[in-house]
Amino acid sequence: MPPPKTVITINSSGRQAASFVRVASAIGWKVRAQMRDRVGIVAQELCSLPNVAIIEGSLDDPRTLERLFSEPAQLAFINTTHWGDEVRIGKAIADAAKRAGIQHYIYSSMPDHSVYDRGWRALPLWASKFTVENYIRQIGLPATFVYTGIYHNNFTSLPYPLFRMELQPDDTFVWQAPFHPNQPLPWLDAEHDVGPAVLQILKEGPRKWGGKRVPLAFSHLTPRQVCKAFSRALDRPVRYVRGPVEIEIPVPTGYAEHLIVLEEVLGEQRAPYFGPDLEKDCTKTAIQLWEGYRDIEEYAREVFPLEEAANGLTWMNEGDETPTEINSDYQVGLMVLHEDKGCRHSGNSRKRPIAFTGVFFGARKAKAFRVNGRARQRRAALQKIGDRAHGVCRLIASFLARAKRIANFWRRGSLMSLVWVVDHGVYSYHSSVAPVPGERRNRGIGVLYYVGQAKSILDSTPP
Ligand SMILES: NC(=O)c1ccc[n+]([C@@H]2O[C@H](COP(=O)([O-])OP(=O)(O)OC[C@H]3O[C@@H](n4cnc5c(N)ncnc54)[C@H](OP(=O)(O)O)[C@@H]3O)[C@@H](O)[C@H]2O)c1
Repeated sequence: MPPPKTVITINSSGRQAASFVRVASAIGWKVRAQMRDRVGIVAQELCSLPNVAIIEGSLDDPRTLERLFSEPAQLAFINTTHWGDEVRIGKAIADAAKRAGIQHYIYSSMPDHSVYDRGWRALPLWASKFTVENYIRQIGLPATFVYTGIYHNNFTSLPYPLFRMELQPDDTFVWQAPFHPNQPLPWLDAEHDVGPAVLQILKEGPRKWGGKRVPLAFSHLTPRQVCKAFSRALDRPVRYVRGPVEIEIPVPTGYAEHLIVLEEVLGEQRAPYFGPDLEKDCTKTAIQLWEGYRDIEEYAREVFPLEEAANGLTWMNEGDETPTEINSDYQVGLMVLHEDKGCRHSGNSRKRPIAFTGVFFGARKAKAFRVNGRARQRRAALQKIGDRAHGVCRLIASFLARAKRIANFWRRGSLMSLVWVVDHGVYSYHSSVAPVPGERRNRGIGVLYYVGQAKSILDSTPP
């Protein structure tokens, strides 16, 4: 068997790189991951993953790059950020990779709208990435350039500019941004989906992907459609308002300038986010790379409330006083998992993880309630639980469709193993399901088997 590949990452605690590190580690690749320090939940989580060697230090310090590339490595996934001189850092890393003989270098780039000659200005924080991209091409590194869509988890009800989902006194939400309400924008769940997509590009190699620019977006939705998805997921009205970017908190100077240009170019001039050449059919490649993506409605239903709660917000608890949630931890999920005697939810590192977010969360929400209180309160509470159970059924239906897609994907042999990381706000957790006993070769069937089991248990359990 060939030795496992070694892949280098930087800014590894960031959303893009962390997503990739989790997946690469899970399939047994070795990861050499730079981070500034080991402080924070994500940094701690990555330190505890198997196959991950942490290189601690600032990217401004040349000794960090020396250590990062000192041992042999074949691959790299590099996402620079605006913290520090991005162009200088981006070039220095590319040079170090070239010297180290990296065979496939994936750089997370972004467009420079000024190159299209349509009177669009360059968005400052993106143009520096494009400069780095051009430098990587110039020095002849075997490279691929991924362009990420708008992250789902930019949304917050805190007063951050551009993606604020502002809670209103009547418990509805309003998102105000400068985009035209009918302008499609590319979206992705960075924490959930960057890792598997990048992994797949690395697996298919530079012969297929060398020199290419790959948009990573799994949906192309207008602001109105996004609000509808949030509204369905949160079960309350969510309204889009086209309006200027409001900056209510101190932001870094470069970011303020970036937002002004964004408002003009993407808002008033309606330039396509990725640029005209990449925007057309922009979800096609990403979905071919990775079919198990999390869409915005699932994000809004499953993750947004958890992230909000992690930020100290409480709107998601309101109205839940009568039914009290009891801790019966993922009843359905665990029942299913425990059916395979050879494998447990965690602990067997050779049988690698698949996670069923929909089933787990859905099952817990629908089933783990105890209803106390007087008759009228009980009736109201049961009504609420009934509504939730209905939501769960819908969720399972969409989950089953997705599991099928994953199973097909798996059968094509595109991934040795699959990780579906469920983000609890800033936390992450991995849950795992092993293949069906006796069917170890065909893990796709394993997915369907377990989903089938979960569904029949749910079907036979009254809400
Ligand atoms: N949000 C979007 O929708 C979107 C879309 C396309 C492109 N992008 C680009 O993605 C890049 C960010 O990547 P990401 O989302 O993976 O990262 P992220 O989650 O925003 O995390 C920032 C990363 O930068 C590191 N960092 C280094 N120096 C820092 C400093 N002085 N202060 C704070 N952080 C510092 C952080 O390290 P610590 O953990 O140690 O703080 C962390 O690893 C940006 O360049 C952005 O333009 C974002």
